[in-house]
Amino acid sequence: MINRFTKLLLCVLLTVAVAVATTACGGSNAQGGGDQEKIVVKFTHVVAESTPKGQAALKFEELLEEKSGGLFDVQVYPSSQLYGDKEEQEQLLANNVQLIAPSVTKLVTLNPSFQLVDMPFLFKDDAQAYRFFDGEAGKKLLNSLEPHGILGLAWWANGTKHFTNSKRPLKAPEDFKGLKFRTQSGGVLDDQFKALGAGSQTLAFSEVYQALDNGTVDGQENTFNNIDTQKYVEVQKYLTISNHGRLDYVVLTNTKFWNSLTPEQQEMFSEAMAEATAYERQLADELSAASFENIKQSGKVEIYELTEEDKAKFIEALQPLYEKYGAEVGQEYIDAARNS
Ligand code: LMR
Repeated sequence: MINRFTKLLLCVLLTVAVAVATTACGGSNAQGGGDQEKIVVKFTHVVAESTPKGQAALKFEELLEEKSGGLFDVQVYPSSQLYGDKEEQEQLLANNVQLIAPSVTKLVTLNPSFQLVDMPFLFKDDAQAYRFFDGEAGKKLLNSLEPHGILGLAWWANGTKHFTNSKRPLKAPEDFKGLKFRTQSGGVLDDQFKALGAGSQTLAFSEVYQALDNGTVDGQENTFNNIDTQKYVEVQKYLTISNHGRLDYVVLTNTKFWNSLTPEQQEMFSEAMAEATAYERQLADELSAASFENIKQSGKVEIYELTEEDKAKFIEALQPLYEKYGAEVGQEYIDAARNS
């Protein structure tokens, strides 16, 4: 015979059991449907969505979401919508965004060796640059950010840089005298323009069009694709095809975020990144050619391509940069680039 006390006790035990079971089944699911909570990956960048970087970021989103069956939710923010050049690095360090892909040289404050891509006429062609990126020296550079809590995941490409300006055709080093150019970041790039007799000012990418338009600077250096997608031809009169340096990207994540993933999740992430990287490099090549055609077709800029003879004069004028920056950038990286 169950007395009143036993009944009460049974009732309490049953209530507790139901509560425990409910909590256990609910687990970490925010929606309460038995699914695992989504892992949000914010990917912010500064260029247009139609660029190789913009398209590859979207490809990565598609690949990782598909591979993980929707476990990852990759959110891509293009065109400095969320953060500009400086802020995106700060936000990655704070783990407020999980992926960024800055232009290599913009990492100068974290490691000056990243200015390697600015060393004048260092890489002969894209293939040599890719061999460097994918070789031992490229991996070492990527890994060099780990003490800052940043993990390098991949090298993405854009291509070689060319000069544009609003004042005159630039065919020889002396044509640069007295002009002012926008740079992405300090050091090598400032000294590059100084060696040509020009001034420079560092500006965030999102500020360049307006600075060219209102004459804050007379010119800038960039890839065909950035010149085209940022519509610089509307505010510049002359383009010199010079191929004097490179503009490529490193895709970076926050180490704490990375370590919060399981080995299986890290593998999916790496696989998606490797596929997006192959896609990005192919696209960089295709879109560079398409952008050059657009620039030509626009008829808005006078185009001059440096001859081998012209190039020799630029190489000579810029040679002092190798003496000044050899040690800072790292002779081992410069040699590895040359031998790639
Ligand atoms: C620039 O600032 O000119 C470039 O680094 C922008 C970019 O990300 O391609």
